[in-house]
Amino acid sequence: MLTLQYAMSLKITENFIAITGASSGIGEACAYKLAQNKNNLVLIARRKKNLEAVKNKCLKLGSKKVFILECDVTQIQKSEKKIITFLKKNKIEIKDLINSAGLAKGTELLQNSKSSDMNQMIDTNIKGLLEITKLFLPQIIKHQGCIVNLGSVAGRLVYEGGAVYCATKFAVRAISEGLRMDLKGTGVRVTNIEPGMVDTEFSLVRLGSKQKADAVYADMKALSAYDIAENIFWCLQQPKHINIQELVIYPTDQASVGQVVRGEKSILNLNK
Ligand SMILES: NC(=O)c1ccc[n+]([C@@H]2O[C@H](COP(=O)([O-])OP(=O)(O)OC[C@H]3O[C@@H](n4cnc5c(N)ncnc54)[C@H](OP(=O)(O)O)[C@@H]3O)[C@@H](O)[C@H]2O)c1
Repeated sequence: MLTLQYAMSLKITENFIAITGASSGIGEACAYKLAQNKNNLVLIARRKKNLEAVKNKCLKLGSKKVFILECDVTQIQKSEKKIITFLKKNKIEIKDLINSAGLAKGTELLQNSKSSDMNQMIDTNIKGLLEITKLFLPQIIKHQGCIVNLGSVAGRLVYEGGAVYCATKFAVRAISEGLRMDLKGTGVRVTNIEPGMVDTEFSLVRLGSKQKADAVYADMKALSAYDIAENIFWCLQQPKHINIQELVIYPTDQASVGQVVRGEKSILNLNK
């Protein structure tokens, strides 16, 4: 008969929270918040150097185990075997998944936009999110875990120059709703987080220049990645019978898409 000690030493796997887009912005902030609460993490993105830095900080903050999965979410099908081997080798079971990998490219009118930008947004924000979710779903179902998708207010309202990006975020909303239906009865919860303006690398990636990106957040108080991470953590902490389906989070200075106050009317200056 197995001794308890031996049986415990046989504990085959441990539960992890996987975060895509963990090399920057909202994904990175989620990693720190979850590390502070002693979670094991799998950090996923393309920039290995950034992931290494995030991993080291998470270990200092309180995570016992943190693994890096250097991976392009647009190439999941090609790397599927590699990812499954990586999970098995490291005895990782994914319980929860935060899908933060995503981007916008350009603000040109559709008729002036590049096909490569259009494809990159669709491949990353829709297909990448779907592929990685599908890959981890058997484990998430097994552990009655949570899937948190980073949608956007751009998934609720369309704006000029944003047809494709908005379409991808409308898709994230549809995927979140559809998944919730497909997963009913499994105990898995699906949450769509829909932020307004968050000051991250997002605008730098979209506009391609620091000067242009800084102008987006000038003279107003945007949300920080940490604000969003706090709210995601709150969703994950809910008792098992509560599913926060959607959370729309704007900065006070942004009343709606394209409705931003700056300068003296900003919350930065109102109370001075
Ligand atoms: N910032 C905002 O105002 C805002 C508002 C609403 C919603 N969102 C959404 O929030 C999510 C996170 O954005 P953020 O603001 O944190 O922007 P960010 O700082 O630019 O972070 C984006 C993350 O996505 C990763 N990523 C991009 N393409 C990838 C790919 N092909 N494969 C793997 N990882 C990829 C990036 O990592 P690598 O470059 O290292 O791969 C990075 O870690 C996005 O889905 C975005 O659409 C942002």
